Amino acid sequence: MALIDELKWRYATKKMNGQVVPQEKIDYILEAAKLAPSSSGLQPYQIFVVTNQDLKEKIRAVAFDQSQITDASHVLVFASWDGYSLEKISAVFDRTIAERGLPENAMDEYKQRLWGMYEPLGQEWHAIHAAKQAYISFGIAMVAAAEQKVDATPMEGFIPAEVDKLLGLNELGLKSAVILTLGYRDEANDWLVNLKKVRTPQSEFVTEIK
Ligand SMILES: Cc1cc2nc3c(=O)[nH]c(=O)nc-3n(C[C@H](O)[C@H](O)[C@H](O)COP(=O)(O)O)c2cc1C
Repeated sequence: MALIDELKWRYATKKMNGQVVPQEKIDYILEAAKLAPSSSGLQPYQIFVVTNQDLKEKIRAVAFDQSQITDASHVLVFASWDGYSLEKISAVFDRTIAERGLPENAMDEYKQRLWGMYEPLGQEWHAIHAAKQAYISFGIAMVAAAEQKVDATPMEGFIPAEVDKLLGLNELGLKSAVILTLGYRDEANDWLVNLKKVRTPQSEFVTEIK
C-alpha cells in the first residue's frame, strides 16, 4: 500500500516555500524519469533542470505568473524531439548495439521498418508522438518525487514557444512538452493542501470485460 499512500499524499502544489531539495533526491527523481519506457526505446525527449533564479523568473512570466516556478527548488522542463529522422533513430539503436555487444547490422531491419512507418506520418505527428513519450517519463518523475516526499506541480500552463526560446530548444530540435516543479509545500499558504482529493469513482473509471 506504500505507493497508494504516497499518491494520496502528493497533490499539485499551488504554493511552495522556497526550500531547496537535496541533490540526492533530485538525482533519484531524474534516474526514475530516465528509466521510463518509451516507444521502441527511442527516449525522444530530454529534461532541462532549471535552478537559475533569473531564468525561473523568465519562465514564470510565460507561465501565467504561476508562483511555483520561482518558489520551487528545481524546475524540470521535459523537452521532446520536434520530429523523428532515420539519423536520430539510428543513433539510438547504435548505442543499444554497442552496449549489448551485438553485430553492427543487428537492428538494421527493425530500424528501416520503424522509419518506414514513421516517415509518412510527418513531422507534426512525430512531435506529438515524441511528446507523449515524454509524458510517461514525467509521470514516473512525479511518482518518484512523491516517494521522496518532495512536492511537485505538474504544469502545462505555460506558452511552449516562449519556453522553447528561453531554453534555446529550437536550435536543439526540441520542443517543451510539460513542466514539473519540485520543492516543498507552503502548508500555511496553499489553498489546495487540505482539500479532498477528488477522482472519478472506480465504477465509472474501470470497465471490466470478462
Ligand atoms: C499535464 C498536467 C498539466 C497541469 N498543469 C497545471 C498547471 O499549469 N498549474 C497547476 O497549478 N496545476 C496543473 N496541473 C495540476 C492538475 O490540475 C491536478 O493534477 C489535478 O487537478 C488533480 O489534482 P492533484 O494533482 O492535486 O491530485 C496539471 C496536471 C497535469 C497532469
